[in-house]
Amino acid sequence: MLRHKDHFHGSDLEKIEELYKIPKEKILSFSGNVNPLGMPKSVLEYAKAHLDCLSAYPDREYKDLKRAIAAYADCPEDFILTGSGSSELITHFMSKAAPKRALIIGPTYSEYERAVIINKGTVKYFPLREEEGFSLNTEALIEKLESEPSLLVLCNPNNPTGTNVSTEELRRILNVCMEHGVFLLIDETYIEFAEDPGRISAVPLTQEYENLAVLRGTSKFFALPGLRLGYMITQNRELYEKFHSTETPWTVNSLAAALGPVMFRDRDYIEKTRALIHQERERLYSVFKESRRFSPIRPTANFMMLKVLDPELNSGLLFEKCIREAMMIRDLKNFPFLSDRFIRLCFLMPEQNDRLLSLLLN
Ligand SMILES: Cc1ncc(COP(=O)(O)O)c(C=O)c1O
Repeated sequence: MLRHKDHFHGSDLEKIEELYKIPKEKILSFSGNVNPLGMPKSVLEYAKAHLDCLSAYPDREYKDLKRAIAAYADCPEDFILTGSGSSELITHFMSKAAPKRALIIGPTYSEYERAVIINKGTVKYFPLREEEGFSLNTEALIEKLESEPSLLVLCNPNNPTGTNVSTEELRRILNVCMEHGVFLLIDETYIEFAEDPGRISAVPLTQEYENLAVLRGTSKFFALPGLRLGYMITQNRELYEKFHSTETPWTVNSLAAALGPVMFRDRDYIEKTRALIHQERERLYSVFKESRRFSPIRPTANFMMLKVLDPELNSGLLFEKCIREAMMIRDLKNFPFLSDRFIRLCFLMPEQNDRLLSLLLN
């Protein structure tokens, strides 16, 4: 028997359907962090016309796909590894790197910790502090790196805080990591939503640093979580070869391999998304900033973390209030360093955001 166990993953719509008896198609997910425009039309049309590609195996080396990723992300083709979503790449990376001691900057996405533990490593968190606006204190982190973890994990922009780290700060961190033999894994799943991805991306640094891998996906920005397409960028030949030689063949299916180049070329969709998210991010941030019930953490991706100020409310009560109106927000109670004072919501279409605003603020 399902109960509201105080948190649901952003994609747990089936559980919600069962527990609250709301058909999942009726639920507005402010929790999934997926682009509200839906998949690009170009992708839908191409998919319809090329479904028959499923009757052939994909190219085992994914040459066309890697060429398209290289052009899109601006990096050499032979730095790219592909996988069935960034989740598969996280799992596979941890099984190959098998870090004995990982330092994870948190609160953050929970899969990094899970994958380290599965591979018998230990995890420590380096906290993003509320009193520092949840932004990274690079000096304090650099001191911690002297204890020489084998792996440092950073999500940029970070889920759920929505804060980010600049490329220049990352360079400082990487230099210290080099000195201490620490490998840095950066998850850039949300980077295309940021105001200026070029100011915060670590992809250019992959050309300079061997102790770095950058992860990206297509589930969120291109609204294709069911397609399962992700990629990793690294110059590190040892990791690359180890990874590549132990991959399950064909984990990216023929359709995903064919659609990658189509979505990466769709400049119109990319620009539309960036304009919509920019507009809603600024608008919702200002509205919440004015409210006495919530304090928003300055968002830099397509979602925002809110501190609940009203003592009569907490994250569980707010989740319940919203889900009864078929709107699903993220209760952040179970994240390290957070509590029942924090929730997260992603930006959907303006009228949908208005519905949520009026419920949360009244
Ligand atoms: C930070 C982060 N990385 C990775 C993922 C997994 O994405 P994918 O669908 O590419 O496996 C998520 C999903 O919520 C996420 O928030």
